Amino acid sequence: MEIPALIMKAIEAKEQAYVPYSHFRVGAALLTKSGKVYTGCNIENVSFGATNCAERTAVFKAVSDGEREFEAIVINGDHGDYLPPCGICRQVLSEFADASLQVILANNVEDYKITTLEELLPGAFGVENLQKK
Ligand code: THU
Repeated sequence: MEIPALIMKAIEAKEQAYVPYSHFRVGAALLTKSGKVYTGCNIENVSFGATNCAERTAVFKAVSDGEREFEAIVINGDHGDYLPPCGICRQVLSEFADASLQVILANNVEDYKITTLEELLPGAFGVENLQKK
């Protein structure tokens, strides 16, 4: 799928954001290596810590559907500036995606910035760190 089409999916997904507390809508669209797209929005909770970001919604939908390999994720917010994924979402992405995952911060179909998980989460805690020396 081309980047502008993936951006459109993230913008559409933002429409479902449940944000009664922050009023800060976020949409995400995750492209699997098999060519499927999983979208997500942020889902807030009155117990604020139970809030789920748009990116994790998309990842969990995909993983629960059996997908494990990802090519790119688009993130779109309302505030007219590139919206970077939060630290928890970066860690969740790194569980499934390799460092070369494209993370596309999109304001609209013409205005976006492509970065990678490697750039966003250098020195990530990974499975190799669980092994004892
Ligand atoms: N949020 C996301 O959905 N993704 C991010 O990467 C940053 C933050 C959401 C969580 C909360 O609903 C709102 O934005 C304000 O933090």
